[in-house]
Amino acid sequence: MRGTQPGPDVGTLRVDTTALVSALLDGPVAVELTSSCTHALEAASLLLGIGPGDEVVVPAFTFSSTANPFLLRGATLRFADVDPLTGNLDPASVAERTSPRTRAVVCVHYGGVAADLDRLVPMAEQGDWDLVEDAAQGLFGSLHGRPLGRFGRVGALSFHHTKNISAGEGGALVVNDPALVGSVPVLLDKGNDREAFDRGLVNAYEWSGPGSSWRMPDAAVDRLATELARRDEVQRARHRIWDTYARELTSWSSATGARLPVVPPGAAHPAHLFWVLLPPATARERFLAHCVERGVRCTRHYGSLPRTRFGRTVALPGDICPVADEFADRLVRLPLGPEMDEGDVDRVLVAVTAFR
Ligand SMILES: Cc1ncc(COP(=O)(O)O)c(C=O)c1O
Repeated sequence: MRGTQPGPDVGTLRVDTTALVSALLDGPVAVELTSSCTHALEAASLLLGIGPGDEVVVPAFTFSSTANPFLLRGATLRFADVDPLTGNLDPASVAERTSPRTRAVVCVHYGGVAADLDRLVPMAEQGDWDLVEDAAQGLFGSLHGRPLGRFGRVGALSFHHTKNISAGEGGALVVNDPALVGSVPVLLDKGNDREAFDRGLVNAYEWSGPGSSWRMPDAAVDRLATELARRDEVQRARHRIWDTYARELTSWSSATGARLPVVPPGAAHPAHLFWVLLPPATARERFLAHCVERGVRCTRHYGSLPRTRFGRTVALPGDICPVADEFADRLVRLPLGPEMDEGDVDRVLVAVTAFR
């Protein structure tokens, strides 16, 4: 049995890569690499002791992984609306959804643009609930110089292949409350005190509590380390494209009534995605087909969770989120990746600005 063989076998690469991610986040009390952001949020949900009878508020405009980890623990979901300028959780809607039953509010930083943390953090302090950051897109994003993932009691990052930095599949659990740190390793090591064993603190590891197999596999850690090494190059390329879109589409957006992303004061974003909110009268399919005819593939994004097939079965009838519905119905994302050259970017701009 492996657990009876004393001696550390924590890979140096894992330790170094974790340390690098931790440094990029300005050193939270703990960072653990996980097999996905979804799994980091599942670990967070367990870590915070969420259970039946608890309510958890999530934005309506997000991916299922913001909600499922809390649903899986038996919590009741409350869907809050989003801000029309950013697509991020609207604190006024959060105030309407929270009650003494609320245990957590999960904010998403859409496109890595900070949610309204200036209001959400004090609300969490005053209310009796935890703020959780779904910072799936938030790596390299910050507010007032503080990295995203560092504002909530816990946060989660994604290193999925669609993200700026990829491990293929991967994520990170970020813990900002020292009181939680001691319980984390057992959760991630399938409920075993494996880390204590690796550090030579116990002779054999054993079942020590609930947990799952949420750690990032070594092959993914390896890939993450390689990708992180080229982060400056990737981020330079992404920002060049994002800034070009923002500059070159301003007059088209004023002429057509399409809306472009707004970055609030104090926020630095990671150029993860560039969205366009088409005017209400525009059929999105017509825009997408127009772009495809010009060799450009734009994509929609999230649905509005309470309106999805499954969401309709779990959402409370009063949790109506009209702004999230608008984002779900009218938003398109323009192509954006470090592999794009000037010709690719020009092709996108020509296609988009030709649309009326
Ligand atoms: C807001 C949000 N949260 C969570 C996730 C899940 O991330 P992962 O694929 O790493 O589990 C995604 C996926 O893109 C996402 O967009």
